[in-house]
Amino acid sequence: MLEHFFNPSSVAVVGASQSPGKIGYDILNNILQYGYAGAVYPINPNAQEILGRRAYPDLTSVPADIDLAIIALPAPAVLNVVEQCGKKKVDSVVIIAAGFKEIGPEGARLEEALATRARKLGIRMIGPNCLGLIDTASSLNASFAAGMPPNGHIGFFSQSGALCVAILDWALGENIGFSKFVSLGNKTDISETEIMLSMGKDENTRVILGYLESVEDGPRFMKAARQISKNKPIIIVKSGTTTAGAKAASSHTGALAGSNHAYDAAFKQSGIIHAESMHSLFGYAMAFANQPLPKGPRLAIITNSGGPGILAADACDKSSLHLSPIRKETADRLREFLPPAASVYNPVDIIGDASHERYEKTLEVILKDDSIRGVVILLTPTAAVDPEAVAQRIVNLAKDADKPILTSFMGEKKVRSARKIFQDHAIPSYDYPEDAISALDAMLSYRKWQEGPERQYRHFEADRLKVRKIFASVIKQHRHDLIESEAREILNAYGFRLPESHMARTTKEAVIIASEIGYPVVMKIASPDVLHKSDMGGVRVGLGNAAMVEDAFFEITSSIQLRQPSARILGVMVQEMIREGKEVILGITRDIQFGPMIMFGLGGIYVEVLKDVAFRIAPLSEEEADAMIRDIRAFPLLRGVRGEAPVDIKGIQDALLRLSQLAIDFPEIVEGDINPLLVCPEGQATVAVDARITIQE
Ligand SMILES: Nc1ncnc2c1ncn2[C@@H]1O[C@H](COP(=O)(O)OP(=O)(O)OP(=O)(O)O)[C@@H](O)[C@H]1O
Ligand SMILES: [Mg+2]
Repeated sequence: MLEHFFNPSSVAVVGASQSPGKIGYDILNNILQYGYAGAVYPINPNAQEILGRRAYPDLTSVPADIDLAIIALPAPAVLNVVEQCGKKKVDSVVIIAAGFKEIGPEGARLEEALATRARKLGIRMIGPNCLGLIDTASSLNASFAAGMPPNGHIGFFSQSGALCVAILDWALGENIGFSKFVSLGNKTDISETEIMLSMGKDENTRVILGYLESVEDGPRFMKAARQISKNKPIIIVKSGTTTAGAKAASSHTGALAGSNHAYDAAFKQSGIIHAESMHSLFGYAMAFANQPLPKGPRLAIITNSGGPGILAADACDKSSLHLSPIRKETADRLREFLPPAASVYNPVDIIGDASHERYEKTLEVILKDDSIRGVVILLTPTAAVDPEAVAQRIVNLAKDADKPILTSFMGEKKVRSARKIFQDHAIPSYDYPEDAISALDAMLSYRKWQEGPERQYRHFEADRLKVRKIFASVIKQHRHDLIESEAREILNAYGFRLPESHMARTTKEAVIIASEIGYPVVMKIASPDVLHKSDMGGVRVGLGNAAMVEDAFFEITSSIQLRQPSARILGVMVQEMIREGKEVILGITRDIQFGPMIMFGLGGIYVEVLKDVAFRIAPLSEEEADAMIRDIRAFPLLRGVRGEAPVDIKGIQDALLRLSQLAIDFPEIVEGDINPLLVCPEGQATVAVDARITIQE
């Protein structure tokens, strides 16, 4: 896939220049000086020869086929070259120039024209506005970056050209090898998804890294990532996410959902390892590219000083790694040679006068304990220890180890050469213990993803026709917000249980309905203009008799008239009171990139204060619905604390899956809440007592 980009048998540089420092010169020079073996054609109408290669006035005058064209001309000249590519049957081009959609409408128009023409001519494009690409297997450096990264197994793509330059320099300094390096630029044609798929298929690439500011086609991106991530780790840092929800949202879900939630959910659901920063992106890369994945959460920490050991232990607490006590037989073996002041619990503190021999012996014993799945080795450069000798011992032992070994030699001057030894021998080395722990934690969650069950989707019978009719009538009335009774109909069509509920237009009617339903009842204002009823004094709960119902009717209607005089009052809903159950919230919102997103959380009227919610992109699988229920902080409450019975978790899962299906079936739903869904102890039905849905044409 994209073969001509990464392993072309011939490359043309259009706009090749004779002047060093010019992009057209630097790219040609990079192609020629790093051992690329294919044919290279400089294209420049004003030159006979450049850098020892015969130059041609234009593409069509080259007397051979061209697999890849690097266009290093200013934006206005690019379209004409693409035309030539069409004539010359060049099917792959990299467009370096800036001056397209990133500069504004005029640039966007030029870019649109380019995309349309290239599509018509069957030409695939990387860029525009990019640094170029590098493939170490074919020794092709078709970029204007300074230097060629060492060969390695990391495939990297970035939406920022500038970041590519920084990372290349970092890689050269850290001796980190790359298989492929792609600057995506404006992603007019080829985006992260194709590049990920190509790296997914590339034998030289073992770990895929990415820097993204946006995703082009969310569902397609997720599908590709799921496919690849079962076999190859994908680690991505995403910048530019918003935390704040849509200010103008009419639902709690809309108010709580930010694009960061969408990305987080999308990454979780497609096995992408979400790096919070460039720092962790490369910390993770070092570990994933060089060490085996841990077969379980049990970790051992070896340290020659308490402080760093505690820092690492604290970081463990916040991770899914277990710092469980060292097994007795292992502890006994350690005791045979460690001084009495040493600690053999975990962290194993071999104390400040530890030498490289003591490190070696300790690591040997720890590596033999097969209940331990990973090792983090810490060192502070005391006078007693020779960091280099320790590093060498670790390198020797790591050769036969089948569990990940990560190190953090703290300090700088005295540990620099030891770190260099680790670099040269593929042992990840971190400046701080916490970084080693978070890298190992990422490896563990990735392992869990790989071993995770196949996704199961459930399908429900639903009365779609009924829903379609209701939406049509709402749109016909130029409304977007469904009134509560309409929203209830929608949920009913998707099999949700709802409390019995009827509209009363007078106090008298309210009393009749209440007695038919049976006391106690709940009463709520019915108005298309009142969004959050409680805020307006529009809800009364626990009304036990006719007198209370009469008072409530008056209080509710007058409260609305007082606080929201313009509100249209249709009446007051009289509703069966659901007497027990925990209040959770379910919601739908729509993310620009990833489409419908489902929210779950602790519900009720304090939902926007607690913000204890989890998000996933629809369609939800059974596992994902279950995972998001367990994701919220209040999950222990649902499982039952202080002798309380657990609630019907399966009932919540069922409700989430129904809502996910509704969101997929009806793209016109912009946002919506079920708040609360009252969840009762197992065996009793969950009941949606309040619903809100907003649609668009
Ligand atoms: N049928 C019912 N049975 C039991 N409790 C109920 C019922 N209806 C409402 N409640 C209680 O009243 C609270 C507020 O009611 P409801 O959710 O309908 O109003 P709201 O203020 O519009 O909600 P929101 O915060 O979602 O905007 C609920 O959180 C719940 O505690
Ligand atoms: Mg509510």
